[in-house]
Amino acid sequence: MSDGRGWFITLEGIEGAGKTTQAELLVRALRTAGRRVVATREPGGGGLVAETLRALLKEPAVWKELGLAEIYLYAAARAHHLESLVLPALADGRDVICDRYLDSTRAYQGFGRGRPRQIIEDLHALPPLDLRPDRTLLLDLPPRVGLARARERGEDGPAGYDEESLAFFERVRGGFRQIAEDDPSRVRVVDADAPPEEVHARVIDALVDLVPGLESAAGKLP
Ligand code: TMP
Repeated sequence: MSDGRGWFITLEGIEGAGKTTQAELLVRALRTAGRRVVATREPGGGGLVAETLRALLKEPAVWKELGLAEIYLYAAARAHHLESLVLPALADGRDVICDRYLDSTRAYQGFGRGRPRQIIEDLHALPPLDLRPDRTLLLDLPPRVGLARARERGEDGPAGYDEESLAFFERVRGGFRQIAEDDPSRVRVVDADAPPEEVHARVIDALVDLVPGLESAAGKLP
């Protein structure tokens, strides 16, 4: 950031981990600290191409047929998202808060579905996919808790997963934790099995070294 570039911060975790709420609270805290911020998400991030790909990737009838191509499609959506939104915003000095990024592909397609992890790594060694977040917050909680939360919100669980879903999300969670263990300077594990304001305080703790003034901004939240 010393060159005037914004911070690239990603939020990761399984369904029901509270990423959307935490992203909103974090954006507010960053703005209170005087930062210019863009909030986005993957797959998607706005725009016709991104949202069309999102709808496609979330449709069970589609992703269940994709096989290995699911990885390439996530990578294509990501490349477009990076070029059209993330990279220009960072270059303009804005912080980008992104709800899901590369670690979701590693955890869901790699660890969850058992697709070859090396393909994911090889693809993400190429521009523009070689961009890595400055900090990743892994909102960690047991899948049983996360899926119950998602259902409480009336989401009826993630689309397309069947009776094996708990085992699938255990693998995904294990994958996220492994990623965090392998890259501790980038990824901070945040215990998300708590009320939103407590989790928010943990999120702030995991970012204070990166963003001066963030702590005091958090204190001003309603
Ligand atoms: P969300 O609205 O909960 O973020 O839904 C996105 C879904 O897409 C979620 O089930 C995780 C999945 N996903 C992948 O499987 N791989 C990826 O690379 C990304 C970004 C998302």
